[in-house]
Amino acid sequence: MVSTSSTTAMTLTADELKADLTLEQLQQLVGLVEYDEDGDVFPVTGWDAIVFVVGNATQTAHYYQSAWGMELVAYSGPENGNRDHKAFVLRSGSIRFVVQGAVDPDSTLADHHRRHGDGVVDIALEVPDVDRCVEQARKVGATVLVEPEIHTDEFGSVRIAAIATYGETRHTLVQRVVDGVPYAGPYLPGYVAKSSTRVRPVNQPKRIFQALDHIVGNVELGHMDEWVDFYNRVMGFVNMAEFIGDDIATDYSALMSKVVANGNHRVKFPLNEPAIAKKKSQIDEYLEFYRGAGAQHLAVATNDILASVDALRDNGVEFLDTPDSYYEDPELRARIGNVRVPIEELQKRGILVDRDEDGYLLQIFTKPLGDRPTVFFELIERHGSLGFGKGNFKALFEAIEREQDKRGNL
Ligand SMILES: [Fe+2]
Repeated sequence: MVSTSSTTAMTLTADELKADLTLEQLQQLVGLVEYDEDGDVFPVTGWDAIVFVVGNATQTAHYYQSAWGMELVAYSGPENGNRDHKAFVLRSGSIRFVVQGAVDPDSTLADHHRRHGDGVVDIALEVPDVDRCVEQARKVGATVLVEPEIHTDEFGSVRIAAIATYGETRHTLVQRVVDGVPYAGPYLPGYVAKSSTRVRPVNQPKRIFQALDHIVGNVELGHMDEWVDFYNRVMGFVNMAEFIGDDIATDYSALMSKVVANGNHRVKFPLNEPAIAKKKSQIDEYLEFYRGAGAQHLAVATNDILASVDALRDNGVEFLDTPDSYYEDPELRARIGNVRVPIEELQKRGILVDRDEDGYLLQIFTKPLGDRPTVFFELIERHGSLGFGKGNFKALFEAIEREQDKRGNL
């Protein structure tokens, strides 16, 4: 088999090239780094697709186009022989979402949706060598859900397998170059190219986000280290610098979090578990309504968070509120230093700031996307910082408490 990957991973993927992204942009957007792929037990190139199961894929696909500016690129459904479900493939920049919903009432997707509601069923990863990954996964005792298999249509072949991760979530592993030939279809065999008649509003940015930065997994109390170990041992992921200590997390945000990343840092997984606090943890609420562990939020990367937030608000997307006290707080202003826009512009939009030794980041969180208080999105604009905004847990809660104190209620 001819391998097209080199030892250094500082090359763009086919999807990134298609999205006209440059290496510099990706280094800034998602913190891409160089690494030696040959020494990796489980080389991962990057995200392949994020697969959602939803109650109504037809309307959810419309939502991601009309509200999030994504582009419909492929489809599978009864019209082309898939009588079980409909699946819409949407793109923004280098990232692909696949939205699936049951057509046949007996589809396993209907059961999945009844248990979990709208959510992420599959974090599919592109790998240069599926068989090498599955061999490694099996060697260290991971659950192989689907053995490596070739799928072929008129556009070529892909080789696919799947392994289990937390809850009922899986990682499908997709090898898009087989025997030196890249697959040329719109997504995977079984899908046809499809576009929509929707017209982008003239004042809306070409893309509201360019890439995917990280996906957070919520796991049950006491299981975070087990899943950190899973990503270390099975997939060769490395621990990232940000580890939230008990001191910060338990008092303010009622969660514990550790972050793992693949060699080139395209794929980053913060893993949360609930912490015992004065109030019920937001992680406990997720676990109750999702019926177990699952993907909590997807952070999409933008190079202009102000324009992105403006477009999203115009399109009706709702964000979490940030109290004015957060911006007026002298401690916050001292901590964040100079950022690229006046703080008033951030305050107007509720955008948060965090800074570490490498730089700063701007971020904002949406309200839950579906009916259950489970999965939501984050927008992130990085300026050197490789963190995830841990300073904001503390700053937000402290700002609120100072206000409470002024009112004599603390
Ligand atoms: Fe995040």
